[in-house]
Amino acid sequence: MNPPLTVVILAAGKGTRMKSGLPKVLHTLAGKPLIGHVLATADFLHPDKVCVVYGHGGETLPKAIDRDDLAWALQEPQLGTGHAVQQAVPHIDPDGICLILYGDVPLTRPETLQEMVMIAREGAIALLTVRLDDPSGYGRIVRNAHGQVERIVEHKDANAEEQAIREVNTGILCLPAGKLVRWLGRLGNDNAQGEYYLTDVIAMAATEGERVLPCHPSADWEVLGINSRAQLASLERRHQRNQAEVLMAAGVTLIDPERIDVRGELNCAQDVRIDINCIFEGRVVIGENSVVGANCVIKDAEIGPGVEIKPFCHIDGAKIGAEAVIGPFARLRPGTELAEEAHIGNFVELKNAQVGFNSKINHLSYVGDATVGRKVNIGAGTITCNYDGANKHHTVIEDEAFIGSDTQLVAPVTVGRGATLGAGTTLTKDAPPDQLTLSRAKQLTVPGWQRPAKKQK
Ligand code: UD1
Ligand code: CA
Repeated sequence: MNPPLTVVILAAGKGTRMKSGLPKVLHTLAGKPLIGHVLATADFLHPDKVCVVYGHGGETLPKAIDRDDLAWALQEPQLGTGHAVQQAVPHIDPDGICLILYGDVPLTRPETLQEMVMIAREGAIALLTVRLDDPSGYGRIVRNAHGQVERIVEHKDANAEEQAIREVNTGILCLPAGKLVRWLGRLGNDNAQGEYYLTDVIAMAATEGERVLPCHPSADWEVLGINSRAQLASLERRHQRNQAEVLMAAGVTLIDPERIDVRGELNCAQDVRIDINCIFEGRVVIGENSVVGANCVIKDAEIGPGVEIKPFCHIDGAKIGAEAVIGPFARLRPGTELAEEAHIGNFVELKNAQVGFNSKINHLSYVGDATVGRKVNIGAGTITCNYDGANKHHTVIEDEAFIGSDTQLVAPVTVGRGATLGAGTTLTKDAPPDQLTLSRAKQLTVPGWQRPAKKQK
């Protein structure tokens, strides 16, 4: 049996530089709160308990995170990172190990942390450090003559010689919990900032002859924290680039890997081609050989193989069958289901509508709360009048019907199989199959009529 793992996430700090009414860790990266990324990373490690230390912004944070499996520890006032972990002590199993993460460091890879957990399970202290060209602001890693970690000195407490050290503390730490709890009890705040520094436990460990083993991330972005909106934007681009690399490695063509945004989970089969400026949200699946044109926003969609989505489409909660052709400028709203080879053209809006094999709605139409059969042709400007101001009603258009342009289908109404509706029809009763139905005022030409002329002055 492995000793139990408690993950403590520090998130009580103020985040002054964000200049925001929102707690810093609730700002989003790739559409997900910063702390949501940290929680997801923690979940990968299958911890026995996750405790979030919160404070600044009060209950906003626990309320925003909709999970009942987390422990919450309030830190009020915020007297430093050591003081923060002290607030979590009641939730830490002293017989296990403890991993400390920051709520504002979103992109740490689980693999990096897994290595640290293994070190701590063997009784040592794993400390994540990194060498920076510009280490200013960070705690510096002070090593002894044998290269062993001796202590961490905070930037504001460091002398010139210590400030020259380029190896810095990322803040991420994993260690046997019993020792941590004991050392936390001995922390003081006699330092430049008058704070209880978590980092002081490293000197205590070294003095007691414990092994402090530095670990390193695969890349700097793993340990970058967010302090400002500029840093948030730059880490967002880094993360998007990382995701783009994964897509390309899986056989997806990205016309420009710098101009794609995946804010959720995008799953593409081989030979999918994505043009510039597309945004993917929620869960999106795209089948082999499908093409997504420029400037599309696609959310929670299942897109079959060989589909062509032309530029400027907005797709949300839709299922699209193989070889369908969508857009440009189409809007598919939740409940849209297109069968194979359906064609949805420009300025067409669909909502809660099932469209059958090879049916075409090519121009300027609204089809909502409707079932459309196979090989139906819906002319330009057709509208299903699904809403009477109080309730929604359903329209059925059966296979091979032909709907003339500028038709209103006043639901509930059914167009029979093979029926034809004349252009401009306002259909209020069911149209029988295989016949022409139309509602149209008779055309009239007024004999002898003369266009008025301007009076001569
Ligand atoms: C800390 C480390 C420093 C390290 C740096 C990496 C200490 C004393 N210093 O710096 O060695 O190089 O992180 O970024 O640990 N927090 C609380 N309560 C508090 C204070 C902070 O929850 O009272 C949280 C913050 O929300 C944040 C994290 O702890 O998520 C780090 O706080 P921050 O002030 O950014 O770090 P420093 O103390 O400056
Ligand atoms: Ca600080």
